[in-house]
Amino acid sequence: MRFPSLFSPFTIGPYQLKHRVVMAPLTRMRAEKPSLAPRPLNVEYYAQRTTQGGLIIAEASPVAATAFGSPGVPGIYSEAQIKGWRDVVDAVHARGGVIFLQLWHVGRVSHSSFQPGGVLPVAPSAVPIPELKTATAAGKSTAYETPRALETSEIAGVVHAFRQAAANAKAAGFDGVEIHGANGYLVEQFLQSHTNLRTDQYGGSIENRARFLMEVTQAAIEVWGADRVGVRLSPYGVANGSGEPDPMPLYSHVIRALDPLGLAYLHFVEPRSSGAGRAEVNHQNVPSAMGLFRPMWSGVLISAGGFTGETADAAIAAGHADAIAFGRIFISNPDLPRRLREGLPLTPYNRATFYGGDVAGYTDYPAYGELEKA
Ligand SMILES: Cc1cc2nc3c(=O)[nH]c(=O)nc-3n(C[C@H](O)[C@H](O)[C@H](O)COP(=O)(O)O)c2cc1C
Repeated sequence: MRFPSLFSPFTIGPYQLKHRVVMAPLTRMRAEKPSLAPRPLNVEYYAQRTTQGGLIIAEASPVAATAFGSPGVPGIYSEAQIKGWRDVVDAVHARGGVIFLQLWHVGRVSHSSFQPGGVLPVAPSAVPIPELKTATAAGKSTAYETPRALETSEIAGVVHAFRQAAANAKAAGFDGVEIHGANGYLVEQFLQSHTNLRTDQYGGSIENRARFLMEVTQAAIEVWGADRVGVRLSPYGVANGSGEPDPMPLYSHVIRALDPLGLAYLHFVEPRSSGAGRAEVNHQNVPSAMGLFRPMWSGVLISAGGFTGETADAAIAAGHADAIAFGRIFISNPDLPRRLREGLPLTPYNRATFYGGDVAGYTDYPAYGELEKA
């Protein structure tokens, strides 16, 4: 068999998985408007990708109406959204899949046009994202605004929004949740020194900067138990204006603090590719988060970022990771595990249809058998 390590069974929390090909969380901006609830098209998309007993991490879902930074993203804070997600989960379960939901707050990676009442987005500190452009809710290109720094007294409310979202994910039938602590969003804005200039107990020392992540993680654990909660981090990431000058001390602390909690898994985004942006960026000779931090983590480790079947199998065989999450090639290959295992050709993805739209570039990528028939 090809890739015997990638296609060996393993366990995440209480779940037995038949292989180690994980579907990475992928924002596709195709929820129903204005409810921002998953709709039948989204059910079909996830059902197509529930291949052969693997783990799906469903796309980042804002925990509150204030947590958005882009249009058409499905939320997890209203009854309609819970119901829409339940249909997705039921379809995945009916095909033998395991599905976690990624919980998201974008912080400063937003614009007032997405915020209820048109107020400024919130962040740990009033530090805008320099240089990069964003788009308003009406789709107009614009510079990022300077966010409003959260008052200390407001932070418990944001943590509670994560707790409520975790409970909502449970009500929708998910198998667990992943805290989005990567890619420059709110949790990472608290972690990193250039976006967190606070002088209260949430800023300053590494321990203080990690407090928000730890509280959010604990809130999810209260709802789910630790073995159904994962955390995603991107220590060397450069997305959305992120970039800790020296990630080693910060992330060593964070990983050592998370390790004793007994989480379902830790999930790294390797900095090899900035695949989520508008352009294809693949970096060479970058540090390997899994290589550097693996010795500090005793639980399940998932890694993502520019993997092929070959490199995924090698990383697992070497003990650098327990499972590999695939993003872009899962978009265009709904039956990705089968194609990797059988050495079938991969369908290339079309970046132009990653974000927003309808069927095109979403549910119209055929599985291999359908490809042969066409
Ligand atoms: C269209 C698109 C949407 C993404 N959305 C998310 C997301 O919602 N949450 C997240 O943590 N990462 C997101 N990412 C990053 C992926 O999960 C993954 O880490 C990245 O694409 C690298 O893996 P790959 O090289 O296999 O594509 C996204 C990437 C792409 C291309």
